[in-house]
Amino acid sequence: MAYQTLLLEVKDRIAVLTINRPEKLNALNATTKNEMVHALESCKSNVSVDVVIITGAGEKAFVAGTDIGELTGLNPDTGKEFSSRGQEVFNLVEHLGKPVIAAVNGYALGGGCELALACHLRIASENAKFGQPEVNLGIIPGYGGTQRLARLVGTGRAMEMILTGEPIDAMEAHRIGLVNKVVQQRDLLDTCRAIAAKIAAKSQVAIRLALKAVNMTRETMQADGQELEASLFGVCCGSEDFQEGTKAFLEKRKPEFRNR
Ligand code: COA
Repeated sequence: MAYQTLLLEVKDRIAVLTINRPEKLNALNATTKNEMVHALESCKSNVSVDVVIITGAGEKAFVAGTDIGELTGLNPDTGKEFSSRGQEVFNLVEHLGKPVIAAVNGYALGGGCELALACHLRIASENAKFGQPEVNLGIIPGYGGTQRLARLVGTGRAMEMILTGEPIDAMEAHRIGLVNKVVQQRDLLDTCRAIAAKIAAKSQVAIRLALKAVNMTRETMQADGQELEASLFGVCCGSEDFQEGTKAFLEKRKPEFRNR
């Protein structure tokens, strides 16, 4: 199937799924999320695919977040649904049943950082930047980030990133265990393919059971945490600060928050 916002290539038992909206720094809109579900399901059922690599088109961004234009107009109910939908897509990544590697080739902000977190391995190029800047818009991470980031790097580091909204560079992300490896941008995809090939050469029975077993370590509590996250995201969408934060971004100015 031809996608509007994705590219999907399968070769040598490895699928490369590229988020392809470089003019918007690969921000995830509703079409992208729907197409991701289709592409991921096809990788899941394709017996010729053992490992999936997710990356972003261009040299600047992996994914610069959810499409902020689609946040405007959300209210507490639709906000909760919006968050739950994003969680559903990223849960599909985490529970694909096959290893998924994030090839982070630039900005991984908001939903982009959360997408990388939902992957099983994260390899970053030297120019990558990771961040959860949602507080700048008057919301919280809503695609599983509050749960997955804290579990991966600890609550202290996760709090710092989520409360300040400040991005960190690739070396810092490596230092705190957010990424597995940092490489030069020109080597990023080859490095990911080499890791994928190493995994594809193993027993896929063992690989899939290993994935399942390691995923189990965060299962039940994460589901509860994500339910709470979606509810709180919905609450943010009822605030004036959320209206102001998203409007200010789209009008390319600083937000004036009134804390209500
Ligand atoms: N949603 C919608 N559009 C986005 C976007 C997003 N998350 N991130 C970037 N874009 C768009 C910009 O609006 C711009 O579109 P335009 O050319 O039509 O005006 C285009 O992508 C290029 O981005 P720009 O801001 O001009 O690039 P930059 O190099 O100056 O800055 C960033 C890069 C990543 C720092 C900046 O785009 C940014 O802060 N993005 C939002 C990040 C964010 O808050 N993500 C979390 C969302 S919940």
